[in-house]
Amino acid sequence: MRIVRDTNEMKRIAKSGIRECGFVATMGALHEGHISLIQRAAEENDNVVVSVFVNPTQFLEGEDLDRYPRREKEDIEICACAGVDILYMPQMRNIYFEDEMKILAPKRGGYILEGAGRPGHFDGVLQIVMKLLNIVSPDRAYFGKKDAQQLILIEKMVRDYFMDIEIVGCETVRDCDGLALSSRNVYLDEEQRRRALSISRALRSASELVDKGERDAKRLISAMREILQKGVDEVEYVAVTDRGLNMLEEIKEGESLILVAAKVGETRLIDNIWL
Ligand code: PAJ
Repeated sequence: MRIVRDTNEMKRIAKSGIRECGFVATMGALHEGHISLIQRAAEENDNVVVSVFVNPTQFLEGEDLDRYPRREKEDIEICACAGVDILYMPQMRNIYFEDEMKILAPKRGGYILEGAGRPGHFDGVLQIVMKLLNIVSPDRAYFGKKDAQQLILIEKMVRDYFMDIEIVGCETVRDCDGLALSSRNVYLDEEQRRRALSISRALRSASELVDKGERDAKRLISAMREILQKGVDEVEYVAVTDRGLNMLEEIKEGESLILVAAKVGETRLIDNIWL
């Protein structure tokens, strides 16, 4: 595995003909969720490039940028074991410029749900993802459904800007107790972790209700809130949308999403199911 820190070198390698390239963008502190994306990329491409970069522009003032887990040594080992060909670890100074162009998230899709609680967050996500896709220039890029709104907005950016890259959405990896894996789970103590399970429990129960024939979004949301309120400290949103993030009154099977954001202690967690 080759570790590349310099952006020009990464561009040179990408240009000088990596044959078929699958790309996974991450902020490090790698876990099984990231590894599942890397494995899928390895199955479907000759070469795999992974980036590790904690991107400051997607963190809002007062968010956890400074304490976001950084585990460079472990990340390098994980990538080497997972069969990564190139690990790209840029520095702020060679990926951002002064007074640079901004990519703005769409007015609606970028400012609802996650974007309502974290206004500007998706501007930063799309800005760095645009850069990374241009630098690595992959054939396919793999993103998790765990961050559903992020995945949908990246698909939209690639479409809106006529970028010649296939975006592949990958299933959410969970711990055996149901908690969706996230680099932020390390913030939870044992008791908080137990309470956080109400998030996946609420989603599972909604999915069971849909299996039994329930379609009404309001009733599903109130059943979920009841479960959530027993565990988490604050429910930020529970929403039923279509795959374009439009709110739905009724579930349409194969076209719907249920999304949750909740706080346990100071830790903000998100999860969702695709129905
Ligand atoms: P990060 O949170 O490190 O996640 C990197 C990728 O892993 C994302 O596509 C995310 O959806 C996926 N992922 C995270 N947890 C997962 C899980 N439990 N199962 C499956 N996939 C999972 O998302 C980001 O970084 C950043 O916003 C980034 C896109 C790198 C831009 O900075």
